[in-house]
This record gives sequence, structure tokens and C-alpha cells, in this order.
Amino acid sequence: MADRITVEICMGTTCYVMGGAQLAGLADRLPEEWKGRVAVKGMRCSGACQQGDRLGRAPFVRVNGELIAQADEGKVLTAIRAALGE
Ligand code: FES
Repeated sequence: MADRITVEICMGTTCYVMGGAQLAGLADRLPEEWKGRVAVKGMRCSGACQQGDRLGRAPFVRVNGELIAQADEGKVLTAIRAALGE
């Protein structure tokens, strides 16, 4: 369980067009009780989208360093909840 969670949303072109754009406003939609405990920021393409079998699994998001493929809001919120120990 972590006190502070870092969420990094890939802002690279592949991720952005495959759904990252919808995740960009996630910080504003977090539950009130998580604010201050969850930091949401953008990241550059890590190259994950170009690795063989991972191609097409964009968008990628990292939650405390753990890479989530085909990320959507539900997956990211689940990962945050788990990282917070809730
Ligand atoms: S554009 Fe997101 S991992 Fe490459």
C-alpha cells in the first residue's frame, strides 16, 4: 500500500489517438477523497507501443511504475484503488 500514487498517461501519438486523449482529463474526475494522494501527469512514449506483441495495445498508462496496456478509465481507477490498498 502506498500513500502517494503517481499515474503517468502516455501522451505519445499512438497512445493519444487510441484512447489516451480521453484519459488526459482523468485528474479532474478522480474521487474527491483521492485528491492529494494521486498525482496524474503525462509521459512521453516509452516505446511500449512499438514492441512486437504490444503493438496495438495502446494506450499505455503507468500506475506507480506498473504498465497498464489498453488502459481505460476503469482499469486505471482499479489499479489506483489497489495501489492505495482500498
Ligand atoms: S505512444 Fe504511448 S507507448 Fe508509444
